[in-house]
Amino acid sequence: MSNNMTLVITAFGGPETLAPVFKDIPEPAAGEVLVKVEFAGVNPIDAKTRAGLGWAAQQNKDNLPWTPGYDMSGVVVAAGDGVEGFEAGQRVAGLVGFPLQAGAYSQYLTAGADTLSKVPENVTAQTAAALPVAGQTAWQALEKAGVKAGDKVLILAGAGGVGHVAIQLAKALGADVFASCSQSNVGFVQALGASAVDYTAGDIAGQVSGCDVLIDLVGGNVGIAALDALNENGRVVTIPTITAEAVKEAAGEKALQAEGMLVSPDKAQMDALLEMADSGRLMVTIGGKYPLEQGAQAHSVIESGHVRGKLLLEMPN
Ligand SMILES: NC(=O)c1ccc[n+]([C@@H]2O[C@H](COP(=O)([O-])OP(=O)(O)OC[C@H]3O[C@@H](n4cnc5c(N)ncnc54)[C@H](OP(=O)(O)O)[C@@H]3O)[C@@H](O)[C@H]2O)c1
Repeated sequence: MSNNMTLVITAFGGPETLAPVFKDIPEPAAGEVLVKVEFAGVNPIDAKTRAGLGWAAQQNKDNLPWTPGYDMSGVVVAAGDGVEGFEAGQRVAGLVGFPLQAGAYSQYLTAGADTLSKVPENVTAQTAAALPVAGQTAWQALEKAGVKAGDKVLILAGAGGVGHVAIQLAKALGADVFASCSQSNVGFVQALGASAVDYTAGDIAGQVSGCDVLIDLVGGNVGIAALDALNENGRVVTIPTITAEAVKEAAGEKALQAEGMLVSPDKAQMDALLEMADSGRLMVTIGGKYPLEQGAQAHSVIESGHVRGKLLLEMPN
């Protein structure tokens, strides 16, 4: 029966290219589970790819129609052959279809059982759907930069999906955390444990200096200007892929170590993030929630670049 509402694009373009279609509910193959999705996370890469920008769009250009979405939480409906440990009703979450297939903007999907995490009791479906890409990107960026106790760490875009998790993980590692944001988010990033650097009040490097690590979640000229806030041994991880080469080149001219990164799905990290959320050591902020059929609005909002925390799509019941 075609009662699986799914958003698809049939061509790259603006948010309005996201259209609902009704597909069949898929059957789980061996090793897979069928999940009834409750929430899908919205990430900037979803909108960039929809618009035809970046590596995922290049790879998918002959593969349309395409359904965006890598973050999801939901409930197991059925398990395929050979699946152990997942039964109907189990709450699950995960980073699905990465990097090319995506597909979480959908009422039902199948995923490899070995890619899914069980959602602990105290974690809401919303929090679980917000964590896969943002949480694992934050985790892997801090790991790549080798952040350790006592490091002075500057995080650009501390109020965003990745940034607000990165602040908390860096604090948990014992770092001294500074986070850039607009004036309206100063209180928000301070409440997460960072010293706020208001980028509307002047240059970042005029407000903070001598940093050991820069976690660049803005990229381009903003990332390049923030290199001046580092000490001479400063390490840089620049996360927006489209401007990574430019930031790395500028860092090289200052004899600083800089690396780009692409998040890599890691179930053990997802389990650990969920456990932190379960025990109250990680707080996730949901900046907005839209019904699935209003995915175009959610994309317009994520493209504004000023979401606080995460945006979610809620599936119809
Ligand atoms: N390479 C990878 O694997 C990977 C993985 C995940 C994300 N990314 C990329 O990383 C970037 C961040 O992702 P995200 O999900 O955190 O994005 P996001 O949630 O959309 O970020 C929004 C935040 O950016 C802040 N912001 C905007 N302009 C700023 C500026 N000039 N200085 C400081 N903060 C600014 C906004 O705060 P204010 O409203 O206060 O300005 C807002 O809270 C995106 O480019 C994304 O595509 C890459």
